[in-house]
Amino acid sequence: MTWKTIIEPFRIKTVEPIRQTTRAEREAALAAAHYNLFLLPARDVLIDLLTDSGTGALSSEQWAAMMRGDESYAGAESFYRFRDAVLGITGFPHILPTHQGRAAERILFGTLVKPGDIVPNNTHFDTTRANVEHRGGTALDLPIAEGRKPDSRHPFKGNMDLAALARVLEENPGRVPVVMVTVTNNSGGGQPVSLENLRGVPALCRRHGVPLFLDACRFAENAWFIRTREPGHAGRPPAEIAREAFDCADGCTMSAKKDGMVNIGGFLALRDPDLARRCTDLLILTEGFVTYGGLAGYDLEALAVGLREVLHEDYLEYRIRSVAYLAERLEAGGVPMLTPPGGHALYLDALRFLPHVPQSEFPAWALSLALYLEGGIRSVEIGSVMFGRQPDGSERPPEMELVRLAFPRRVYTQSHVDYVAEVVLHVKALASRIRGVRIVEAPPTLRHFSARLAPAHGALVATE
Ligand SMILES: Cc1ncc(COP(=O)(O)O)c(C=O)c1O
Repeated sequence: MTWKTIIEPFRIKTVEPIRQTTRAEREAALAAAHYNLFLLPARDVLIDLLTDSGTGALSSEQWAAMMRGDESYAGAESFYRFRDAVLGITGFPHILPTHQGRAAERILFGTLVKPGDIVPNNTHFDTTRANVEHRGGTALDLPIAEGRKPDSRHPFKGNMDLAALARVLEENPGRVPVVMVTVTNNSGGGQPVSLENLRGVPALCRRHGVPLFLDACRFAENAWFIRTREPGHAGRPPAEIAREAFDCADGCTMSAKKDGMVNIGGFLALRDPDLARRCTDLLILTEGFVTYGGLAGYDLEALAVGLREVLHEDYLEYRIRSVAYLAERLEAGGVPMLTPPGGHALYLDALRFLPHVPQSEFPAWALSLALYLEGGIRSVEIGSVMFGRQPDGSERPPEMELVRLAFPRRVYTQSHVDYVAEVVLHVKALASRIRGVRIVEAPPTLRHFSARLAPAHGALVATE
């Protein structure tokens, strides 16, 4: 018998209460937080979909392993268990633990990138871009054309544009020190990269002697998409598919706060012993000794277990299904969104959700505030507040105004997802009454984290 219901593949051993608030309380909380969801105390949030990074629940096996944490400064047992787990999954022999993903990026680019260099990627995540630019390099995004179309149903919208990559490599000899591929493509909507596409990248890189690194935060979710969408991979174990992806590359950076299933941690893993030695010098300088990076022994233990758990088929089926289930319910209610839904998040299309709010009044920001005001749901704007301000101080609105609903791992159940659907549909019903916002005060860079805003026209949601 194949059952239709895909259940959460766990039972709950420890619970953390979440707090209901009234609409009036949330209205006051929003005003006190200057209409910026980053400034809200978490205790005022009912369902927190701000990020899937470091917000997951640990398993009982992880907690048990943490009790074995060896906190020796050098040569801790925990390091060897962590190293064996990473080696077993990736096949990369040189493994450098770091406190999170951006530290691995800084060490890799700090070693490889010099001013004037170009680093191509399907789409750089913000920290990856910032680390390339910090070295004086140019971070170049080369997604396929479908990756830029919100309503395209291409099954692998995270793919790299191989023809564009070939041109960049051809036209810039000696200026491309590394090519990156991000799986799944977070900034492009959590969209997967196919194995066929991934195999095409090293074929090009090798001709120019350029190494390929994966930004592997969501390698297991990407493997699941390959298994369920790419011809020839149905039914294959996710670990086997993931290994084929790693086999295409010379190394990876990893934020283990995602598919490492931990609250903090990351690593840089690679094949080239000489590059590993140079990266190790920077690791020791800025993170810590080679057998702990920036982590405690118990963090390494949790990570070793998490990396294996994330590849369980029943977990991945539940994980990807949770987001798809929400997407189906919202699509049936006519909610505009980026399709297909991503692995870790669903992205609402605020330009179509609030067509009456001009981009100068930050429609995605306003929509994210309305979701909180009406239902206590915290999401994140990926639009003009985050990306609109240019280095010269001018405003250039991005192509898309998105609200990301990111799912923490193993935290919420189907009834939480049903509740989220109900709130979004309710907000859709009153969309015409939602008004834009204006910026009152903002720092020059990364303004979304601390900017103060206010409704542009009286109430955020006008009365009928
Ligand atoms: C694709 C991608 N790369 C890198 C990072 C950076 O990782 P961390 O937040 O652990 O520094 C993230 C985090 O969200 C990410 O999504």
